[in-house]
Amino acid sequence: MAAALPSVRPPLRFVLCGAVDDGKSTLLGRLLRDCRQVFADQMRKVEEDSRRWGTRGDQADLALLVDGLRDEREQGITIDVAYRTFETARRRFVVADAPGHEQYTRNMATGASNADLAVVLADARKGVLPQTARHTRIAAMFGIRHVVLAVNKMDLVLWDRSTFEAIADGYRSLARDAGVEKLQVIPVSALTGDNLTRRRESTQWYSGPTLLEHLETVDVESSIDGESFRMPVQYVNRPNSDFRGYSGRIRAGRVSVGDRVRISPSGTETVVGSIVVWQGTRERAERGDSVTLTLANEVNVTRGDVIAEAFDPPGVTDQFQANLIWMSDRPLVVGRSYLLKIHSREVTATVTRIRYRLDVSRGSMLAGTTLNLNDLGTVNIATNRPITYAPFDRYPGLGSFIMIDPTNNETAGAGTINFALRRASNLRWQDFHVTREARQELKLQRARCLWLTGLSASGKSTIADLLEKRLHAEGHHTYLLDGDNIRHGLNRDLGFTEVDRVENIRRVAEVARLMVDAGLIVIVSFISPFQSEREFARGLFEPGDFSEIFVDASIETCAARDPKGLYARAMRGEIGNFTGIDSPYEKPGNPDLHLDTEKLGPEECAELILRRLL
Ligand code: ADX
Repeated sequence: MAAALPSVRPPLRFVLCGAVDDGKSTLLGRLLRDCRQVFADQMRKVEEDSRRWGTRGDQADLALLVDGLRDEREQGITIDVAYRTFETARRRFVVADAPGHEQYTRNMATGASNADLAVVLADARKGVLPQTARHTRIAAMFGIRHVVLAVNKMDLVLWDRSTFEAIADGYRSLARDAGVEKLQVIPVSALTGDNLTRRRESTQWYSGPTLLEHLETVDVESSIDGESFRMPVQYVNRPNSDFRGYSGRIRAGRVSVGDRVRISPSGTETVVGSIVVWQGTRERAERGDSVTLTLANEVNVTRGDVIAEAFDPPGVTDQFQANLIWMSDRPLVVGRSYLLKIHSREVTATVTRIRYRLDVSRGSMLAGTTLNLNDLGTVNIATNRPITYAPFDRYPGLGSFIMIDPTNNETAGAGTINFALRRASNLRWQDFHVTREARQELKLQRARCLWLTGLSASGKSTIADLLEKRLHAEGHHTYLLDGDNIRHGLNRDLGFTEVDRVENIRRVAEVARLMVDAGLIVIVSFISPFQSEREFARGLFEPGDFSEIFVDASIETCAARDPKGLYARAMRGEIGNFTGIDSPYEKPGNPDLHLDTEKLGPEECAELILRRLL
């Protein structure tokens, strides 16, 4: 057994926030100047060490490291936040400097998600601004329980006690309401350094600590007693056939060799065989440790599974309520598929309902159908596969997630789980004896979905019709799903707003999938203007069973053809949200087949589909 490892007190991680001009840079500049800045390299070394997992062979280690880094980048969204490190004789600090401009909620959220404490600045002359309130709520939402309100520029109000008290009182109720548990309010002047690193003796009415004293002494460690063991698997470590371990960072509780654990979501139980760290093996490990566990039995564990205390396993769900911050210029669309990353697992998710938007300055709830850049809201989310989770307020490491827009891989949102919504527990996927294979065999064909996308009047329906005729004549079993027709029945409740179009495509894609399962060759002819939903449709099928066919004609050509007279009406303003006029069409970036209907006639197009794709 390895010797006990020296315990290094982890640095205090805090985020510095405040509205523009509240004096953040002055304050940070002074803190850095009066304390000792830690060399960046040294810091990196510490982080690297703490990130290393026990493995055999350098190769595995390297893979792990690269993986860990990539992961961190994706999870951390650290791009726009500056981290500085400094230390005093009593403590080390990592401070995240979050830009104060309204647009930078996302950076603020990033900074907060990695911090234990927030220092919020207010200008003594201006008091608590909407921005101050916003930052406080975001910090609290991302699990910060300790806040310091630094009432800055006190020199400019001549250290007036009543001004300070009024600001402190106002902020106290706001902070309590936002969920802050510990609040310290300190009158400071970043410019003169008073009450920052040095006490202002002449202000007798203030007897509390200086900012630095407070930061040096504040206890932010929450007790791990009462927490159950949870470790998301970041990496299945298999350097050779004799060793199989599961690497990750312990997010909660502690674990010992011989402990009974459950693998989530599968539910398999086993016993911890050994705990490997980079210096050797250990009998025990606890929250914050990066370890590799071996298990007594050969069980199936993959990246993203959670190894947990068997007697108190975490929850598994595919629907939950969450608080969400939207960070993308493209508004959130209810029903649209996004990638959701929670600890090391990635699933497809949709917001099924916006319960309300939050007015961050007042803390009141507003009705809403979307979230725009910087909006905060409470929403219901459904995932395509069950995830292992815990409510964020109990286990932050298992309760926060990010949402990625799959069309550009941007982090579009970040959120925290409040609680699971019941649904899946009483629904099971049933397996039946007659399979798709059996059905298509009987029909002597391979079932598949041919998805035609393009502007209205680009020629989709005509080509689809010819194609189906040809297939039918050759003895195939087919079905044609056409936008105009389906909108008369199944989708007659839907219009042409973005949300409705998303739902329109979701339904038809699901129907197409059922029909392929029934053994049919399904032709879908819908404008399907958004890349996200076409990707969603593709994702419902096995690789090779879905082909995206771009029926291409310029908007001018389509408007000139105008068989239903719709373009003329749209241009007269009689129809709103018309694709290509006042509603976007996102061209397929990489279709399986591109048909230029300005050069090819409908017969030739149908022929091409038959030759290339069937
Ligand atoms: S989609 O965008 O949701 O995929 P879908 O293919 O179902 O559209 O329906 C498009 C058809 O609806 C068009 O061919 C046209 O006949 C009719 N239509 C009526 N209003 C609109 C509109 N605002 N935009 C596009 N098509 C419209």
